[in-house]
Amino acid sequence: MARKSHEVIEVPDALDANKAAEIAFAHDQGLTSHAFTKGEHPIVRIEHLNKSFDETKVLRDVNLDVWPGEVVVVLGPSGSGKSTMLRCINLLETPSAGHILIHDNEITHASGSEVNKLRRDVGMVFQSFNLFPHLTAKENVMIGQTKVLKKDKAEAEAEAMKQLEAVGLADRADFKPAQLSGGQQQRVAIARAVAMHPEIILFDEPTSALDPELVRGVLDVMRDLAENSGMTMIVVTHEMGFARDVADRVVFMEGGVVVEQGLPAKVFDHPENERTAEFLGSIK
Ligand SMILES: Nc1ncnc2c1ncn2[C@@H]1O[C@H](COP(=O)(O)OP(=O)(O)OP(=O)(O)O)[C@@H](O)[C@H]1O
Ligand SMILES: [Mg+2]
Repeated sequence: MARKSHEVIEVPDALDANKAAEIAFAHDQGLTSHAFTKGEHPIVRIEHLNKSFDETKVLRDVNLDVWPGEVVVVLGPSGSGKSTMLRCINLLETPSAGHILIHDNEITHASGSEVNKLRRDVGMVFQSFNLFPHLTAKENVMIGQTKVLKKDKAEAEAEAMKQLEAVGLADRADFKPAQLSGGQQQRVAIARAVAMHPEIILFDEPTSALDPELVRGVLDVMRDLAENSGMTMIVVTHEMGFARDVADRVVFMEGGVVVEQGLPAKVFDHPENERTAEFLGSIK
């Protein structure tokens, strides 16, 4: 029977930061190819995260730590709660219970100015680009810098051109979104997110809305970020080649639960869980 959302879910308090780091250090040995050290603290801690919509429990006791600079790819069937988890990390959704901590600061009950700070530190790239249609590519990459970071126009423009260059679109800087292909629009959206220099960047199926021939260019940009930017990345994608090559750690979700996580080669080639094996088998 479905549990009612007004039911109060009891979860423990967030762990003490040092204790959490110690537990994560022990837990994550062998689960990621990202190097982390004793005494280092995870940049993102998800503890007992629960989220319900009406009577539907969408996330059930999700626990996950992400290390600074780690690239985590989240896989799982449609409806498994991947987007909801990402949206909880930048507070586009309010968790029903549990804790999300960034740099050991609990964000779960953040208020107005704290939410704004969080959104600066945590960038997000969506499936549907969400560019402003009346602004050029360059202006789209500038607007967050001028409005949110209060940079002056010249500085924002220089940064925008640098980031458009990095995604191979310097020559499209003055084009409006409608004059760009889907893949180009998504690269502008990535440039816009990176121009804010977030510590953490979340990607929610950034290539799913693209024609197949445009996927590659976007994945190349993401691969470059993963290898060279030092940013912490959490990527929801169905691109298995990307997950295998680029992820430090793969997390498989189903039914609102983290079913399995580990090194890509391990999860892809020797999944421990039958559901993981079935899912990966089904989409090969
Ligand atoms: N705003 C909402 N109101 C009600 N139900 C929602 C809402 N957002 C998500 N859900 C439900 O939560 C479940 C998980 O959705 P979510 O979007 O997190 O899945 P997903 O793993 O990202 O799936 P997909 O691969 O299709 O994007 C689904 O059953 C969905 O219908
Ligand atoms: Mg989704």
